Amino acid sequence: MRPPAAARMRRMIRNVHDAALAALMIDDPVAKCAAAAALRHDWIARTLDVLEGGDDARAIAEPGRPSRPQLVAPQALSSRHIGSREGHAALLHAIAHIEFNAINLALDCVHRFRSMPAAFHRDWIHVAAEEASHFELVQARLHALGHGYGDFSAHNGLWDMACRTADDVLSRMALVPRVLEARGLDATPMIVAKLRRIGDDESVAVLDVILRDEVGHVAIGDYWFRDCCARRGLDAEAVYLELMERFNAPWPQAPLHREARLAAGFSAAELDRLARGRR
Ligand SMILES: [Fe+2]
Ligand SMILES: [Fe+2]
Repeated sequence: MRPPAAARMRRMIRNVHDAALAALMIDDPVAKCAAAAALRHDWIARTLDVLEGGDDARAIAEPGRPSRPQLVAPQALSSRHIGSREGHAALLHAIAHIEFNAINLALDCVHRFRSMPAAFHRDWIHVAAEEASHFELVQARLHALGHGYGDFSAHNGLWDMACRTADDVLSRMALVPRVLEARGLDATPMIVAKLRRIGDDESVAVLDVILRDEVGHVAIGDYWFRDCCARRGLDAEAVYLELMERFNAPWPQAPLHREARLAAGFSAAELDRLARGRR
C-alpha cells in the first residue's frame, strides 16, 4: 500500500527550510499542526539538514490557510460581549486565529532566514510545534462551545507584518515576537480574568499554558533580535524604537505585563519607555 501523500512528501524533503515551507503552505489546520509536530520530530531525530545560503526575501502573500475564516479589515470585526455564548466563542476564535497565524510565522522564519545559524532554526521549529499545540488546545475549547475555526471573521494583521518584514530577519524579530507576541503577554491576564468571571476554567487552564510558552517565544525573538543587532554593531534598544516608528507598529496597551516581559528579555528601561506611550 502506498503511504499517504504527506508522508511521501516528508520522506523526499531533506532540509529544514523546504520542510518548513511545505508545512507553511498546507491549508488544512489539522494537517498543518501534524506537519509542525513532524518537523520538530525530524529535527530531534536529526534527519533534516540545515543548508547554508542567503535569505529568501520574497514575501509569501498567500500562506496555507483554510478558506474560512473570512479575512476582513480590523475595523470590520464585530465586537461581541463575552457574556453571550456567541461572544464567548468569538473571543476563543480570535485566539485560535492568532495561534494559527503563529504556526505560519514560525515556519516562515525557518523557511526564509537561511543565513541564520542552526540554533535559530532549532528555536523556531520548537516555536512552530508549540503554536500548533496551542491552536489544538484552543480549537478543542471552541468545539466544546459548538464552534470551529472559521466560524467568525478575522483580520490578517499578523501575516501582513510577516510580509512587511520578509526581507530582514532583524526587523522580523523586532516586529513579530518582540512587538506582536509581546502584546499577547500583556493582554492575556485580562482575557483570563474575563473567562474566569464567566466560569470557563477549562479555557483559563489553556491560556495559562499559552502564557507560559509565549514568554519563551518572546525570549527567543529577543535573543535573536539582540544577536542580529550585535552582529551589525547596532544599539538594540534604540533600533527597536526606530523600527516601531518606521513600521508604524502598534504600541503596547497598558498595563504592560512587566514580569512576563522582563522574563522574556526586555530591560526595565525599555519597559519604562514603552509604558510612557508613543511620543
Ligand atoms: Fe501561541
Ligand atoms: Fe508564540
